[in-house]
Amino acid sequence: MTTLTTEPLAPLLERLFSEAEAPGRSGGLARLSPGQRASLSASSSEKDYLNFYSLAKDAYLAVDRETAVLLYMLVRSTAARSIVEFGTSFGISTLHFAAGLRDNGGGRLITTEFEPSKAARARENFAAGGLADLIELREGDALETLANDLPEQIEVVLLDGAKGLYLPVLELLEDHLRPGALIVADNADRTPQYLEVVRSTDRGYTSVPFADDVELSMRTG
Ligand SMILES: C[S@@+](CC[C@H](N)C(=O)[O-])C[C@H]1O[C@@H](n2cnc3c(N)ncnc32)[C@H](O)[C@@H]1O
Repeated sequence: MTTLTTEPLAPLLERLFSEAEAPGRSGGLARLSPGQRASLSASSSEKDYLNFYSLAKDAYLAVDRETAVLLYMLVRSTAARSIVEFGTSFGISTLHFAAGLRDNGGGRLITTEFEPSKAARARENFAAGGLADLIELREGDALETLANDLPEQIEVVLLDGAKGLYLPVLELLEDHLRPGALIVADNADRTPQYLEVVRSTDRGYTSVPFADDVELSMRTG
């Protein structure tokens, strides 16, 4: 029995995943062609990513169920106490991380979201899941909210916000990553600049792709 598989979290996650997977949840994104969607979500231009995510304010855009369980497992297997997440949305991935912290005996999880209505819904979900005490939700653009007051050592990271910001956000966190820290980047196939860094042999990472579009990297130095 784990926090993930018992009340109150298990039924909450089932409801959230069902809502996330329901047809017609893409809201304003339905107005974009697949090409526009891919290019706006991957852009590092503030105008583009604000435009994309304002159209996506009702869409969960959550990691898939398998990736979510993987997040829980990574936290448990590394006995992590310190996690940073870029891209909260309604909090599905955050809840998996926080469940891992709970089962590790506690810790600190910083997550960040710039869409106020999503942040409000995420806070409700953190409370409903009984995990709010472990989660610090920073509202605003990650380039500002993650620029200061980070834990001395970060052990696990999820990059799941605007794809064009994966590299600048990684650079904000880099000095705090402990050797062996794990970084999961969802939809990493949309950010070649990020992949070039984590896959290069001289930038202090070991990195592998898995599933269709998730990159798992480890800080080596
Ligand atoms: C893919 S969703 C996150 C899904 C979430 N990790 C999950 O699995 O449930 C990306 C979220 O990041 C937010 N976001 C995108 N760029 C951001 C930025 N620069 N700063 C803060 N939040 C951002 C969006 O509003 C959106 O809610």
